[in-house]
Amino acid sequence: MNIAELVRSRHTCKAYDAQRPLSEEQLAQLQEILRYSPSSVNSQPWHFFLVTSEAGKDKLVPALTEHNMEKVRSAPLTVVIATKTELDDDHLQALLAQEDLDGRFGGNEEAKKGADGARRYYVGLNSTSAQKQQEWMARQAYIALGFLLMGAATLDLDATPIEGFFPEKLDAALGLTELGLKSVVVASVGYGSEQDFNAALPKSRLPAEQVLTRL
Ligand SMILES: Cc1cc2nc3c(=O)[nH]c(=O)nc-3n(C[C@H](O)[C@H](O)[C@H](O)COP(=O)(O)O)c2cc1C
Repeated sequence: MNIAELVRSRHTCKAYDAQRPLSEEQLAQLQEILRYSPSSVNSQPWHFFLVTSEAGKDKLVPALTEHNMEKVRSAPLTVVIATKTELDDDHLQALLAQEDLDGRFGGNEEAKKGADGARRYYVGLNSTSAQKQQEWMARQAYIALGFLLMGAATLDLDATPIEGFFPEKLDAALGLTELGLKSVVVASVGYGSEQDFNAALPKSRLPAEQVLTRL
């Protein structure tokens, strides 16, 4: 696979073919892309909602800006990427327990303690205020968004990153506050329809010399 070609050919899909669902295999692969996204100190401060049903879309669509509504209505999958309202001690302990279970410490208690201490240090650096911690977690969510967009492209699927929504409305619609979560960013995935005008438009990016410097 030629990555340079892939990034030039992928585009933001503006209209989906509602008659082309995703297979369970495609959904499973997209789920793994999200779950295996990297995050600072493996913090995984997120939860991903995969909206595929009409009932799910009924909740989601009214929380979008008008120009995103039809896309999400016709896309077979829309992912809401949410982060925790607070990265608390329970979560830090759960991360450590999972890493232990996954064999990251090879039964070495010192290594486990060290990993916990290092993580808590970096979480602390990024948690000097509740807002700073929120912003830090949101940055991790955007890494998952990037993974999802590239992952969709490698599966020959179209995708739309979506910031055009009202977070408070979306949080209320999905009951996120009660779950200790906040919506950060949204993305649809599926197959573009003939109305996807962006598919035929040329890509536009600033020149390489303006955005890249080799030192
Ligand atoms: C974080 C983010 C949020 C975006 N939000 C929207 C959106 O709400 N609706 C939409 O149609 N496009 C949205 N876009 C698409 C951008 O306009 C698009 O990525 C950009 O113009 C570059 O075009 P390309 O993705 O086709 O290469 C968003 C893109 C990003 C990365």
